[in-house]
Amino acid sequence: METPRRMKRPSRAVRGTTHHSKETDMPRLVVRNFAVSLDGFSAAPGQSQKEPFGRNGLRLMNWFFPTKFFRKMTGQEGGEEGMDNDFAFHADDNVGASIMGRHMFGPPPDAADKESWKGWWGPNPPYHHPVFVLTHERKAPLEMEGGTRFTFVTDGIEQALKLAFEAAKGRDVRLAGGAATVRQYLKAGLVDELHLVQVPLLMGQGERVFEGLGGVESLYECVGFTPSKAVSHLRIVRKGR
Ligand SMILES: NC(=O)c1ccc[n+]([C@@H]2O[C@H](COP(=O)([O-])OP(=O)(O)OC[C@H]3O[C@@H](n4cnc5c(N)ncnc54)[C@H](OP(=O)(O)O)[C@@H]3O)[C@@H](O)[C@H]2O)c1
Repeated sequence: METPRRMKRPSRAVRGTTHHSKETDMPRLVVRNFAVSLDGFSAAPGQSQKEPFGRNGLRLMNWFFPTKFFRKMTGQEGGEEGMDNDFAFHADDNVGASIMGRHMFGPPPDAADKESWKGWWGPNPPYHHPVFVLTHERKAPLEMEGGTRFTFVTDGIEQALKLAFEAAKGRDVRLAGGAATVRQYLKAGLVDELHLVQVPLLMGQGERVFEGLGGVESLYECVGFTPSKAVSHLRIVRKGR
């Protein structure tokens, strides 16, 4: 995969979400490219092996699939350039570790062999760094090709964050999802920056990030709104950063 270093400098909108602020220069907990429907859902009910985002939920990512970044990642030619591609391309800039929830990792309820499940992404997942999976089930770590190591954390969000910052060695930690996981870190005020991709479709039901988050409005503010042809990119930061 082409490295971000070989890409042209990202646009101003993207740069705002992918680089340390000069004031802090501290590793941050960031969420990037997190898709939400107009009615606030990030996944649909009914996750299955065929539909990782739930029934008809993958349409949340229809802005992402045509990008040059996604096409290259999946061994295809061509693809669109422009703002959505820039966001896709630079999402892992300065990221040294990720955290995700067990539903994002899988297995889905209909997986035949749950014991041997190693994630959705095949032998060489697109992370290439340590990934910490929040779960209630103890499991041995999984060493994958290409530098990805899945570690299963049963001691809660703060322990996962501590391990991830240690593993990231001075770089940022990316909170990959899903909604239940992002919601917990937001509630605890631990997310530094949240890049939401608002997709103009209605889903009606599913998993919401912004649920039960009374008080979030005093902790966070939206400081960026950049529409592309397909979606709106929103930048939400912790107040006072
Ligand atoms: N829209 C997007 O951009 C986006 C991004 C990423 C993922 N997704 C989609 O979102 C869906 C998953 O999101 P989700 O909200 O359903 O779930 P999730 O956040 O991925 O996972 C929730 C699960 O993680 C475990 N967990 C979470 N916090 C924990 C804690 N503090 N302690 C112990 N275990 C904890 C629990 O699993 P157990 O109790 O089973 O161990 C919990 O049920 C998937 O369909 C995925 O494809 C969407």
